[in-house]
Amino acid sequence: MEVKITILLAASSLLLTSPTFTATVLGASSNVAEEFSYYKLALQWPNSVCNIGVPCSKKAEKIKTDYQRFLIHGLWPFWANNSQVAPCPGKELTSSQVKDIKKSLEHYWPNLHRPEDFIFWTLEWNKHGRCLGLEPSVYFNDAIDLRKRFRDDLGLGGQGCRPIPNPYKRITIYDALFKALGKKHGQLKCNMRNGGYQLLEVYICFDRQKKVRDCPFQYIQCGNDDQVSVLFPTSNTVRPN
Ligand SMILES: *[C@@H]1O[C@H](CO)[C@@H](O)[C@H](O)[C@H]1NC(C)=O
Repeated sequence: MEVKITILLAASSLLLTSPTFTATVLGASSNVAEEFSYYKLALQWPNSVCNIGVPCSKKAEKIKTDYQRFLIHGLWPFWANNSQVAPCPGKELTSSQVKDIKKSLEHYWPNLHRPEDFIFWTLEWNKHGRCLGLEPSVYFNDAIDLRKRFRDDLGLGGQGCRPIPNPYKRITIYDALFKALGKKHGQLKCNMRNGGYQLLEVYICFDRQKKVRDCPFQYIQCGNDDQVSVLFPTSNTVRPN
């Protein structure tokens, strides 16, 4: 409440001198929830986070047994012009706001980089969640509900695309995802391991009614052509498969 009042006062005093700046302030604080165009659900493949030699907060054994499934990275609102809705001003997340869904969050949205899961949720809330004008519990529950619509492997296995020691052509993974999503275009993000590409993240896009829709771009950092090799790694350690 305090924040809103401050912004309104600041805006109305600026109105006298600087109408352009005032419009920007109001746009950022009030209209985002009505105007954003679609969501992107970002999901990460834990093996690819943990097998490149950067610190991984979960034990290798736990990754192997409990995390052979796509985990949530975030749920991000986008404008129709495909820029991310940002920045997202507002209040900090408190642990009591997510205490009722903590177990689900720990299951679907753990922090693979730091031991404290809550830090990850806070970062995502600050950077993306706050823009939607929802209560934190609603935002985090929405993300979990969207994730739960899919299998652990997002249905890729059913389309013949499983983690195996040899790489696929990137188009093979992309097409498997397209079919798994009921003929909607997803998006893939890769990272590098031993000089080759591997699948790091999958993005699924949803319209405002939360129906799957096409994502506007196909790849991030997965090379320059459809024949390039992309590993869907079985291995969660820096050692070869
Ligand atoms: C995209 O649209 C938003 C909302 O209308 C606008 O604020 C932003 O400047 C646009 N970005 C680009 C790159 O056109």
